[in-house]
Amino acid sequence: MKFFLDTANIEDIKKYASWGVISGVTTNPTLIAKEDVSLEKRIKEIAEVVDGPISAEVIATDLEGMLEEGRKYAKWHKNIYVKVPATPEGLQAVKIFKKEGIHTNLTLVFSAGQALLAAKAGADLISPFIGRLDDVCEDGMALIAEIAQIFQNYNIKSELLVASIRHPRHVIEAAMIGADIATIPAEVIDKMIKHPLTDKGIEKFLEDWEKVANK
Ligand code: E4P
Repeated sequence: MKFFLDTANIEDIKKYASWGVISGVTTNPTLIAKEDVSLEKRIKEIAEVVDGPISAEVIATDLEGMLEEGRKYAKWHKNIYVKVPATPEGLQAVKIFKKEGIHTNLTLVFSAGQALLAAKAGADLISPFIGRLDDVCEDGMALIAEIAQIFQNYNIKSELLVASIRHPRHVIEAAMIGADIATIPAEVIDKMIKHPLTDKGIEKFLEDWEKVANK
C-alpha cells in the first residue's frame, strides 16, 4: 500500500518525505486555501520534494473549463494528476485527458457506482471519501471493501485511493482490505508512529543504561 500525504503544507510535506514514507501528495481547493499561496507555486514546490503523483484539483464544473485547467496543470510537472469530481462532466474530462496522456484522479467519490464508472472512463486514481461518509452515519470502509472486491473481480487497473481519512484505524483497515493507496493527513501519521509503550520502553532503557554507563 502506498501512502500519500493529504495536505498542501510544504513544511509537513518535507517532514514526512524525510521519514521515507510518502509516495505522493493530494491537494484540494480547501487545503490550498489554508496555505494562502497560489496553486501553481505550491504544486511546483511539492514536485521538488516528492517524486510521485501530485493531485491538483480543477475548480471548473463544466467540461471545457475542466479541460482548460487540467491541461494547464499538466504542463507544470510530469507527476501532476488532474483531480476532477465524480460528475458526468468529470467522466468526460477523464476520457479526454486519458487520450492526451494526462493522468487523472476522480475525486468526491461516494458510491461503488461512481467508482466503476470512473474506472471505465479510464481514471488512474479513484478517491472514495470515507470520513465524510462516516460523518453522515454511513460506513465509509464498507464502500472501500465493495470497490476493492469489484476491482479484483474484473482486474481493474485504476488504483483505489482511500481519501478523507480521519484516524489510524482507517489506514489499517484500508490496508487489510488491500486498497492501493491511502492519502493521510499529517496528524494521522503522527498518531500512527506514536505508542505509549515505545515511549515507556525508551525511558526504561535510558534509565537502566545510566546505572552502567560509567562502568
Ligand atoms: C483527498 O484527496 C481529499 O483531499 C481529502 O482526503 C478530503 O478529506 P476531508 O474529508 O478530511 O476534507
